[in-house]
Amino acid sequence: MRHFLSLVDFSKEEILDILALAKKIKNDAKAGKHEDYMHKKILGMIFEKSSTRTRVSFEAGIYELGGVGLFLSSNDIQLGRGEPMKDTARVISRMVDMVMIRTYEQEKLEEFAKYSKVPVINGLTDKYHPVQLMADYLTIMEEGLDKDLIVAYIGDGNNMAHSWLNLAAKLGFELRIATPKAYQVNKEILEKALEDAKVSGAKIVVGFDPKEAVKDATVVTTDTWISMGQEAEKNMRIKEFRGFMVDEDLMKLANKKAIFLHCLPAYRDYEVSEAVLEGPQSRIFDEAENRLHAQKGIMVWLDKRRDS
Ligand code: CP
Ligand code: NVA
Repeated sequence: MRHFLSLVDFSKEEILDILALAKKIKNDAKAGKHEDYMHKKILGMIFEKSSTRTRVSFEAGIYELGGVGLFLSSNDIQLGRGEPMKDTARVISRMVDMVMIRTYEQEKLEEFAKYSKVPVINGLTDKYHPVQLMADYLTIMEEGLDKDLIVAYIGDGNNMAHSWLNLAAKLGFELRIATPKAYQVNKEILEKALEDAKVSGAKIVVGFDPKEAVKDATVVTTDTWISMGQEAEKNMRIKEFRGFMVDEDLMKLANKKAIFLHCLPAYRDYEVSEAVLEGPQSRIFDEAENRLHAQKGIMVWLDKRRDS
């Protein structure tokens, strides 16, 4: 049995295998064919944070695969009143076939997985957002940009930046990250990515200059400056991220065919300008739709390994 807790746990071949499966399921769905890969299977979805895309894509996804999703908000289940993760895991995993969790600490997710009888999927933690990266890379492949790929990530060294590091290190593409000095990526995650890059051939550069990072990039991406749980730092962060907005001037420095990606929700005129978000290079809604398709690939892939 495998879990999907971070991209670090997956090989390049496995990541591409899941994406190929996602693409097949997507193409079939577009042609009106919905195979019941997960007939009558139940996906438990535990949310300790808000969500639009993750909730809807997992719930719609499991339904389209022939199964059913249970939305479990921590406001409503005993987890929110202090029942331990390890007890929650042992109870819920006896009743469902797969679990998706969105929580704060990666360790909480790992603890759930340790005690779970069924595959567990990371639906975002403070450290990583791996399902988002699968959707992002599916979008990049569909745009034909996976060859000679140069990704520029501008902004906060957060869960999205960490998952970009994981993905680049595994797949072997060029990733440039530009953050303010006080908001750099986690050192250990960076070191691990640099180590894996020696094997994959990835070129990973971290710095502080958005212009330098974006030069000739084929994908430009960013994320909110204020992640869930950081609301109290809002005013300080807005000040300290000045100069890191992805706007039209910055996009002009990228490759002519470059696309703009954002995991959403986006905060206009903070991390990205309205013109870029709504402009011709933006692929944000294809990217959001691909959450549905990429996650179907992940669920079916995990479920197959569980049965075999
Ligand atoms: N991108 C993303 O995970 O969106 P939600 O927070 O709406 O799920
Ligand atoms: N970095 C953001 C991503 C939201 C999808 C957060 O953690 O809130």
